[in-house]
Amino acid sequence: MSIQQEKIKELVERRASARQGGGQKRIDAQHQKGKLTARERIAMLLDEGSFEEFDMFVQHRCTNFGMEKTKFDGDGVVTGMGTIDGRLVYVSAQDFTVSGGSMSETMALKISKVMDMAVRNGAPFIGINDSGGARIQEGICSLAGYGEIFERNILASGVVPQISGIFGPCAGGAVYSPALTDFTVMVKDTSYMFLTGPGVVKTVTGESVTQEELGGASVHATKSGVAHFAADSEEDGIKVIRDLLSFLPSNNREQAPFVDTNDPAGRVDDALNDIIPDNPNKAYDMYQVIGSIVDDGKFLEIHKSWAKNIIVGFAHMNGRSVGIVANQPKILAGVLDINASRKAARFVRFCDAFNIPLVTLVDVPGFLCGTQQEYGGIITNGAKLLYAYGEATVPKVTVTLRKSYGGAHITMSCKQLRGDINYAWPSANIAVMGAEGAVAILKDINAQDYNDLFCNPYNAASYGYIDDVIEPRNTRFRVIRALEQLAGKKQENPWKKHDNLPL
Ligand code: HXC
Repeated sequence: MSIQQEKIKELVERRASARQGGGQKRIDAQHQKGKLTARERIAMLLDEGSFEEFDMFVQHRCTNFGMEKTKFDGDGVVTGMGTIDGRLVYVSAQDFTVSGGSMSETMALKISKVMDMAVRNGAPFIGINDSGGARIQEGICSLAGYGEIFERNILASGVVPQISGIFGPCAGGAVYSPALTDFTVMVKDTSYMFLTGPGVVKTVTGESVTQEELGGASVHATKSGVAHFAADSEEDGIKVIRDLLSFLPSNNREQAPFVDTNDPAGRVDDALNDIIPDNPNKAYDMYQVIGSIVDDGKFLEIHKSWAKNIIVGFAHMNGRSVGIVANQPKILAGVLDINASRKAARFVRFCDAFNIPLVTLVDVPGFLCGTQQEYGGIITNGAKLLYAYGEATVPKVTVTLRKSYGGAHITMSCKQLRGDINYAWPSANIAVMGAEGAVAILKDINAQDYNDLFCNPYNAASYGYIDDVIEPRNTRFRVIRALEQLAGKKQENPWKKHDNLPL
């Protein structure tokens, strides 16, 4: 064998060894827990054969506690670039088979490198977490590493989409990287996120709680809203990440990819003419409206199980990616409460940051009242959504289906918050409040007079606050035409260092 051939053989062997991570025993242990390895996850995430790994020969530099004797090529994370549906992305996947995926100084450097590339080259960053947290032997160097990553998450925010997959443990301060990213996908039963684990909770508060109860996927997808998706399996979680990216541009200077459709833009749906019940207190299902107006009925919902009184998610309309925000009359009558306001505000801001037009479907009786909401800060939290809509410069098309009352009317993308096109169905009621409430306050008016004056779309339309009253069956066609008209929209906000969103 020539010297060159020897060298190539060594390369092949070193690569093969690095790909074994912490070794077969630990790979088997990972599989026994029902989990895939970092490389298996990346292979499933990226287009076949598209992955190019970086830094596979990086080793940690720690010599504390005899660590110099335990070194693995690549250390505890696999990083690199590849494509999803042919589009460039950067990835990191923590490798639990090496020191439990715990964060070392060199791991942080590897992750930071691909994050920098993502921002420089305008491509999404996807980080898959499966880690025991800070590498205890490395002390402050590990914490510094987290700090480097957090700073990059912050600087990349609004520049390139950032998606976190939580496919195993993610605990302590480590949770703040996913929290700083745009979307967090957790896997049921095998992942958890918490600041302090059950043991410490027991010691500090006396509360007995399991890992799953404290920070499992279901908890974060239904109670805290920390997770945007709770996937049934790792495969499902990977599919969600790929689906999500199909609606997003690669960076804040681009438009989302156009997706061809055979669904006619002019398709009408007669069922929508009958969807609003005669009784204003009766609910209907907003999903039916969304499914009817978007291409092929396909809707990728975000935060499906949290704050269900508002629905947010992505769809295509005549091939164009849109963000849909819709009150859900079936849950709490579609009222805006603290969580609904936070959920929708974050979504609206994401869409605005990434040039995704907003389609808002309104049926809102108001903001939720009562001490619980007031003490929790419904004023500040409701203001987040108001702010998000008001600052957004992407095309904004609003359709008022039924109720649109008071402050909630203004908040839900009204004309004065620079709504571009505001339609209303004939069933719309746009007023300070419903007749019942108004009559209770102004005792000398009667409900019939109030309803005649305000409980229709024509009063608002007479001021030009509604651009047109449309037949429900034509909603898809009208929204698409509005969006097409707005495709070249240019609007800028006054210069500022940054805004002061009411946090
Ligand atoms: C170094 C670690 C480690 C860590 C795990 N390992 N966590 N090494 N630092 N933080 C190593 C283990 O020693 C073991 O090495 C291998 O990873 C697998 O761990 P196991 O315990 O065998 O796995 P498992 O039973 O599945 O338990 C996983 C675990 C547990 C629940 C994550 O390892 C654990 O509790 N780890 C410590 C978690 C923790 O307290 N981290 C610090 C949080 S504070 P071998 O060689 O045997 O395979 C924090 C602050 C961050 O992270 C601040 C950021 C700003």
